[in-house]
Amino acid sequence: MRLTQQQIEQFDRDGYLFFPGQFTPEETRTLTDAVPELYSRREAYNVREKGKDAVRTNFAAHMYSEPFARLARHPRMIEPVQDLFNEKLYMHQFKINGKAAFEGDVWQWHQDYGTWLNDDMMPTERAMNVAIFLDDVNEHNGPLMFIPGSHKKGVVEAKHDLTTTSYPLWTVDNDLIGQLVERAGGKGRYDEAGRLVGSGIVSPKGPAGSMILFHSCLVHASGSNLSPWHRVAVYLSLCAVSNHIRRPKRPEYIAHRDFTPIECLPDDCLLKDYPVDLPWKDGLPASALQTSPVPFDEMKKAA
Ligand code: SIN
Ligand code: MN
Repeated sequence: MRLTQQQIEQFDRDGYLFFPGQFTPEETRTLTDAVPELYSRREAYNVREKGKDAVRTNFAAHMYSEPFARLARHPRMIEPVQDLFNEKLYMHQFKINGKAAFEGDVWQWHQDYGTWLNDDMMPTERAMNVAIFLDDVNEHNGPLMFIPGSHKKGVVEAKHDLTTTSYPLWTVDNDLIGQLVERAGGKGRYDEAGRLVGSGIVSPKGPAGSMILFHSCLVHASGSNLSPWHRVAVYLSLCAVSNHIRRPKRPEYIAHRDFTPIECLPDDCLLKDYPVDLPWKDGLPASALQTSPVPFDEMKKAA
C-alpha cells in the first residue's frame, strides 16, 4: 500500500493518519481470537494492570504467535512507513494493549520517542507507531487522544513516572499539555450540525481492523475504560534500520535488539498460513531478560 502526496502532507502537518477499516472483519478475527490465550500466560511479557489480573500490555507476540508474526510482516502497515522513511525497517517494539472493559487504566500524556531516547538511546525520531484496533473503538472505551501537530515540537521535557500505573513511562506535565492543546486549537467549537471542529485534542475512532500511523514525537494519552467493552489494540513501533537503538537497558521483549530488516509477506497473509519463524515459541530465552546500562559499542570494546 502506498501513500498519496496528500496523505504525506497531512501526516507532516498533523503527525498522524487514520485508515478506518484497513483490515477486514475476517482478517481482524484471526488476531482477536488469539488474544485470550496469550493474555492467560503467566509470563514476564504480560504486564498486568496495577493490583489487577487484567493484562495492560502484552509484549513481543510476533516472536511466539503465528497470526501476530504474520501481522508484523503485513505490507499494508510496513510499506507506507518504509515509503515515509525511504529505508527498510526493523521491529523496535510490538505490543497488544488490553484496555479491558471496566479495568483498563490510563496511559498518561507522553511521546514514545522520549522513552526510546532516554531508555534505549535511539539516535533520532526516525521510528513510527502503527496502531491496529482489534475491537471497535468509541468515545467510551478509552480511545487514544492526540494533540495534532505536537510532533513538530521535537522531544519535549518529560519525567519518569514509576508510580501512576503498572508500567513506567516518561510523561509530560500538565502545564505543557495545556499549552500544546491551546496551540493546536484549544477546545475547538461545535458547528451547526453539532460536530466538534478544530479541537486541540482528537481521538480517531472506528471499527475493529482500523489502523493509525502516528509520529514517534506526537504527544498522546488515553483515559481509563469504564465501559463494558474491551479496547484491545496492537501497536507496532517500526524503526529505520540505521536508527537502531544503541543500548540494551530494557529487556529484549520490550526493546528488540535484532535489527534485521522486515521482509513483507503477501497482502493475504492474515488469511493464508504462510510459514513464519517463531524464535520464542518455547518460552523467553534467558538473554531476552538480560539488560545492561552500557551501550552496545562500549560492551564490544570491553569484550
Ligand atoms: C501507548 O501510548 O503506548 C498506549 C496507549 C493506549 O493503548 O491507549
Ligand atoms: Mn505511546
